[in-house]
Amino acid sequence: MDIKKLYNGVEIPAVGFGTWQLTEGVHEVIEHALQAGYTHIDTAAVYKNEQEIGEAIKKNGIDRSSLFITSKVWNNDRGYDNTLRAFETSLSRLQMDYLDLYLIHWPANPTRENAQQENADTWRALEELYQAGKVKAIGLSNFLKHHIEAVLDNATIKPMVNQLEIHPGYLQTETVDYCKKQEIVVEAWSPIGSGRLLQNESLLAIASSYGVSVATLCLQFLLQEGLVVLPKSTNPKNIRYNLHFERFTIRNDDMEAIKALPTTGFSGLNPDEINF
Ligand code: A2P
Repeated sequence: MDIKKLYNGVEIPAVGFGTWQLTEGVHEVIEHALQAGYTHIDTAAVYKNEQEIGEAIKKNGIDRSSLFITSKVWNNDRGYDNTLRAFETSLSRLQMDYLDLYLIHWPANPTRENAQQENADTWRALEELYQAGKVKAIGLSNFLKHHIEAVLDNATIKPMVNQLEIHPGYLQTETVDYCKKQEIVVEAWSPIGSGRLLQNESLLAIASSYGVSVATLCLQFLLQEGLVVLPKSTNPKNIRYNLHFERFTIRNDDMEAIKALPTTGFSGLNPDEINF
């Protein structure tokens, strides 16, 4: 399995199982993912599936130490004390005594008074959790370059990860390049554009020239760019395939063609504009 190393030495499986919008049949889907061999599962308090993910893991009996579990503090729990409380709630829902990775789910909207302070206080709580050994790595999610720079102004510990919406047609190059320079590992949520890219004609043409599906092309492209991918599926065949597809090399000209695609498949969730 592909493994990446965070700058603090923690190893993270490069293909994780995304669980955004997984609210039905959670036990069964997680059991399929574990049986397929996923050891990295990405959840969040707001996904409302932590409890069932924890139960499914327990029922499966897999050794906790072989798993890499991520969760995220939701927007209405920002701030130092709230974040510490939210973390404990996530832990107890997951029935675990530590997390592998804990992220700030979204930066505070810059139009909010004190947005910068809210992010700084939330980050301080994550630093505290890390130093207390309750989480093996800490990071950000949906933070653009300017949000990360502001966090770094007050941080003692640099984030190890930033999770962003990234897929062909929405590459967020400025933030990704900045993260790479900072040794912050980038994770791609919605790596297949939440399914919106599956019928894209440009991608279909490139995928067929390698004899693969668009889903596989998207995942290979992002892995080749050095990212961690978090594909989501409820279909047992796709779940297995997304982890085990035979790795190949996309030629440079095709990499460039994919990079040159116009904006497509974007969720519309701009971190500077969201108001939830
Ligand atoms: P399904 O649950 O039927 O597999 P993303 O990971 O970008 O959020 O995309 C998730 C969407 O992509 C889901 O609709 C999922 O549908 C679909 N999907 C995931 N993996 C594959 C795959 N290997 N082939 C086709 N569709 C896939």
